[in-house]
Amino acid sequence: MTTTMTAPLIEVAGNALRTGAPDVEHLYELSKRRQWNASDLPWDSLDFSSVPLELRRGFADLLAQTHHGELGALTASARLVQSDARLMDKLFGATQVADEARHVEWFSRLLFHLDAPAPVMPALAAFIDDVTQAGDDLHLLVGMNILIEGLAQTLMLHAGRMLREIQVEELRSFQLVGTWLVERVADDESRHLAFGIQRVRALVETLDTSKRLKLEDEVQRWTERLMALTREHSAGVVAFGLDGDELMARCLADTRSRLQLAGLS
Ligand SMILES: [Fe+2]
Ligand SMILES: [Fe+2]
Repeated sequence: MTTTMTAPLIEVAGNALRTGAPDVEHLYELSKRRQWNASDLPWDSLDFSSVPLELRRGFADLLAQTHHGELGALTASARLVQSDARLMDKLFGATQVADEARHVEWFSRLLFHLDAPAPVMPALAAFIDDVTQAGDDLHLLVGMNILIEGLAQTLMLHAGRMLREIQVEELRSFQLVGTWLVERVADDESRHLAFGIQRVRALVETLDTSKRLKLEDEVQRWTERLMALTREHSAGVVAFGLDGDELMARCLADTRSRLQLAGLS
């Protein structure tokens, strides 16, 4: 069973001024400036009634899985705030918790307006449980901030840009959703990713060879599971006229380069 270790606050306070972390400080500044309010989207103007049911269902299916991932990210980021030993990591982490709460709200409201029930895939829920219950911060950061949030960012940017360019009058609601996905939700995710890559790289550098190989094995298994789950949901992507194979190749390439940046092969 996993328990979250709470860093002794007296140590956090004592190290606060001595621990220089300019990169995290920069991310924290960005986070404070870029907070947004999900209530500012004119929800009542959204109208999906003229969208073919098959398209609405495909979209709702993708959103339901993403919504569940956001719930996982909320849980994981809250765990990290407790265990982070550096003050700046805690402060940035607190902004991530607020970001993820806003994302959960945003996807919840969007699903409500789409009005097309879509269940969460049990295998995806199990995967997210495995990651959020990881035994230590390093596994939690690799699984959530790099693998899951990285994949979400690739998908959000790809789908969001495509939706944003839709010019058909009856599909204007998709255009609005796409704009918010790219300019607000994915923008937040890019900070979470940057934080995750930086923290993982620092932690990986402290591992001996056998621990590092063990971690790389685990990461390989997680990556394969996540890519298989994504492939199963390519129907929702194809319904929008996107090339499922091309998108999968993009997801895999992005994941590999993020892992490399974090010092993992
Ligand atoms: Fe998120
Ligand atoms: Fe996130």
